[in-house]
Amino acid sequence: KILILDFGSQVTQLIARRVREAHVYSEVHPCDVDDSWVRQYAADGRLKGVILSGSHASVYEESTDRAPQAVFELGVPVLGICYGMQTMAQQLGGRVEGGHKREFGFAAVRARGHTPLLRDIADHTTPEGHGMLDVWMSHGDKVAEMPPGFKLMASTDSCPIAGMADEERRFYALQFHPEVTHTRQGRAILERFVLDICQARPDWVMRDHIAEAVQAIREQVGDEEVILGLSGGVDSSVAAALIHRAIGDQLTCVFVDHGLLRLHEGDAVMEMFEGKLHAKVVRADASERFLGELAGVTDPEAKRKIIGREFVEVFKAEAAKIKHTHSRHVAWLAQGTIYPDVIESGGAKSKKAVTIKSHHNVGGLPEQLGLKLLEPLRDLFKDEVRELGVALGLPPEMVYRHPFPGPGLGVRILGEVKKEYADLLRAADDIFIQELRNHVDAVTGKTWYELTSQAFTVFLPVRSVGVMGDGRTYDYVVALRAVQTSDFMTADWAELPYALLKKVSGRIINEVRGINRVTYDVSSKPPATIEWE
Ligand code: XMP
Repeated sequence: KILILDFGSQVTQLIARRVREAHVYSEVHPCDVDDSWVRQYAADGRLKGVILSGSHASVYEESTDRAPQAVFELGVPVLGICYGMQTMAQQLGGRVEGGHKREFGFAAVRARGHTPLLRDIADHTTPEGHGMLDVWMSHGDKVAEMPPGFKLMASTDSCPIAGMADEERRFYALQFHPEVTHTRQGRAILERFVLDICQARPDWVMRDHIAEAVQAIREQVGDEEVILGLSGGVDSSVAAALIHRAIGDQLTCVFVDHGLLRLHEGDAVMEMFEGKLHAKVVRADASERFLGELAGVTDPEAKRKIIGREFVEVFKAEAAKIKHTHSRHVAWLAQGTIYPDVIESGGAKSKKAVTIKSHHNVGGLPEQLGLKLLEPLRDLFKDEVRELGVALGLPPEMVYRHPFPGPGLGVRILGEVKKEYADLLRAADDIFIQELRNHVDAVTGKTWYELTSQAFTVFLPVRSVGVMGDGRTYDYVVALRAVQTSDFMTADWAELPYALLKKVSGRIINEVRGINRVTYDVSSKPPATIEWE
């Protein structure tokens, strides 16, 4: 495995992703772990290398974080990236200089091919035979003097020491970011580091991971019973399938149907888990209760709070029933927590705001229910969870579905939520999604569902005049929303083909009685958000 020490860069997770894409297991830990922690971590002999990440500290707020010195005494290769390079230089006897201006963006790096890290890796070669790399830089400080034993590995016009290496001790450092896709050879460089230099075995494959994970769940749970909140989303579905594979009927899934799901979604969840996987699923049909509590409420945050609170109440009641009726001891609450949730909330250095969490990951619930927490996806990234889901036999359409917010259609019906509105919205949204799946882009060969990150329909509780046949109509309006994004923090509206929009609007207006106008949302985030509420 590879240890990544996080100095708080926004892209640290990407380093871990890239390493795992090379099929080598990697973990991110905060940079302020101490020497004894590091030695303990390496004690079983599985640690093959260490990567020191960048930092988010700007030139103005100087970071004083240092890597635990033990990292340099383990005898395994170490790669420092950006801030990680600077701290490596400083800790090993070099010198770092405050930059007067921040270098941010693309840079052309001249690589010295003598080191194994960059040998034969280049975007192009100069007439003099130097390898050139197009890389992404983002730094203020830079290394001014290399530590003893280091040789120059790469340079740019403005950053003479853009890479350095001590080949004897196998310490490598890069001022640029190999983990971002802007650095075209970044993947090759990281692969070179973990596979060739660290000699880590590429044995991290989802298919094999299943057997290991199943074994771990069996050992952890023993003959006790597990309850899991199934939402139909990717994470809880994959967690359910995995735990069911491990312990079968010792698992009971609780599926809270709040009546704000998409068309036929509740039935599809039941059919998949009860019908196909033969798992025990309790479907709590609480739509009347939710709609009752939401009556008359128009404020988006108030609606979210009600839905979150009711969800917890319904789930707790169902869990209590299961606890009382089961002969065996119900001791576990399973959750589909995934690795990005763990890194973000688990004290890794990053000080950035926590992203919006689904109310399905309800904090505090295990204690209230007196249950221990079972989180079999804690070590996995989203794409790994999806891969695992497919390997477990879940249908790809389910596993590669766009994200759906916890409060569901509750935040896609503007203002007061009513059953009538939810039914109209479900019908319209289903048509939109069907057509996105039907339309294939000629250039990429992908469907527009695949080409968008999230797409849905929003119900506007206003009416406009229309004409149908000889008659006048006075009906509701929906807005179509489709965005492209890599992280959901910023997003662009998708340039859907007119033919697709035409088909969707024609079908919605003709097939959904009660809607006579369809609009397309052309707002980017920021300043708009992806959801309308
Ligand atoms: P916004 O609207 O903030 O959405 O641009 C960003 C992403 O978060 C999802 N989202 C939510 N997910 N509970 C959730 O589980 C919520 O209350 C919630 N609000 C927004 C949204 O669908 C998008 O993917």
